[in-house]
Amino acid sequence: MANLFKPSANSAAKVSLLSLAGLPVVLFFTGSQISRSSANTGVENPLSQPIPFSHQHHAYELGIDCRYCHTGVERTGYAGLPQTETCMSCHSQIWTNSPLLEPVRKSYETGEPIKWALVNKVPEFVYFNHSIHVNRGVSCNNCHGPIQKMHITYKGRNLHMSWCLQCHSKPEEYLYSDEKNPDLTPRQQVFNFYLKLQTDPNGQQMGPQEQQLALGNEQRTTVKDLVARGNELLKQRGVKKAQLQDCAVCHH
Ligand code: HEC
Ligand code: HEC
Ligand code: HEC
Ligand code: HEC
Ligand code: HEC
Repeated sequence: MANLFKPSANSAAKVSLLSLAGLPVVLFFTGSQISRSSANTGVENPLSQPIPFSHQHHAYELGIDCRYCHTGVERTGYAGLPQTETCMSCHSQIWTNSPLLEPVRKSYETGEPIKWALVNKVPEFVYFNHSIHVNRGVSCNNCHGPIQKMHITYKGRNLHMSWCLQCHSKPEEYLYSDEKNPDLTPRQQVFNFYLKLQTDPNGQQMGPQEQQLALGNEQRTTVKDLVARGNELLKQRGVKKAQLQDCAVCHH
């Protein structure tokens, strides 16, 4: 600190100037650090769950489709969580003695639903809708991280307004299509991605955006040709880009 000033300077005055000037900066940095730290946003912190349900086992190794358990995800606003009956369609026959599955059996007997801790949540005054995103080809991993690698589910993104708007302002940087499966609709591609990962876990045969998704990163690109392709996809898929940042889209 002392070295910042020439010896001739009136050090008391300089110090007070410095601390005044530094104050807002310090507040700004600590403020933004607090609001961005994962302790506050919950990103990458697994929550404690009544049953240690693993997406890696079920969705990736066994290859069960997301829609088998999240039945609303392509048709409605809500993805929804599975009913106990869905688990019991298998676990009344396999791993029937597993102590880890005791809460599932108990819920089945009593009719009392399993109380999963909700990992992803936007405030009540925000409107979100799964089906429109999935039907435009936005991958689950883009918003939830590497689900196929999760043993205990954690939050993949902070879901802040600024994060939503990054994509809503430039959706062409996020949309892509699976060039190897051009006959699949954007929605079908979202689910087919997990099937492809089973034979190609690291995405070596995949395009750059899908490779990022496999790692759990966003499917974003700024490469000129790919952005040009993204602009074509906006038209093909009928995305109304001009309105996507209107407050009323997310705040009715
Ligand atoms: C066999 C059923 C099953 C399958 C298949 C499945 N899930 Fe899940 N999923 C669950 C259960 C149970 C939970 C709640 C417990 C938890 O958070 O792990 C959950 C939670 C989630 C959550 C967090 C929900 C929240 O609380 O915010 C996301 C995101 C998710 N699943 C995405 C997926 C994706 C993507 C796929 C397909 C690749 C998939 N799931 C396949 C059963 C399933
Ligand atoms: C399509 C069949 C199927 C469905 C549906 C299914 N599971 Fe499983 N589950 C399995 C299989 C197979 C294993 C063994 C996986 C392994 O160890 O590789 C397993 C393993 C488990 C285990 C680990 C058990 C242990 O003792 O290690 C838990 C916990 C579990 N499942 C919970 C659930 C829950 C909760 C649901 C409902 C949301 C569910 N499963 C739905 C097939 C299924
Ligand atoms: C554009 C981003 C985005 C995409 C794509 C997306 N989700 Fe979500 N997901 C969210 C947000 C935001 C929430 C919290 C919603 C809320 O609080 O109403 C959420 C919540 C969930 C939940 C908790 C239950 C619920 O319905 O709120 C599950 C389960 C889930 N997502 C599964 C999926 C699956 C499976 C896919 C892919 C088929 C998917 N999500 C695609 C952003 C996304
Ligand atoms: C990766 C890109 C991406 C992200 C991230 C994203 N969106 Fe979207 N969103 C889209 C696209 C693409 C559409 C489709 C617009 C269209 O077809 O006109 C859309 C449409 C919507 C719509 C319009 C639904 C309707 O019925 O008209 C709402 C609401 C919405 N998004 C809310 C959100 C919220 C809230 C978040 C953050 C939690 C979010 N989105 C994050 C890409 C994204
Ligand atoms: C793409 C979806 C989306 C659009 C468009 C959008 N918001 Fe939001 N907004 C959100 C989400 C998600 C949150 C809450 C999450 C967060 O930021 O922590 C939020 C939170 C807010 C809040 C609460 C304070 C805060 O920052 O948490 C205000 C105020 C707000 N929005 C105003 C606006 C205004 C004004 C507009 C138009 C200029 C707008 N929003 C457009 C998604 C959106």
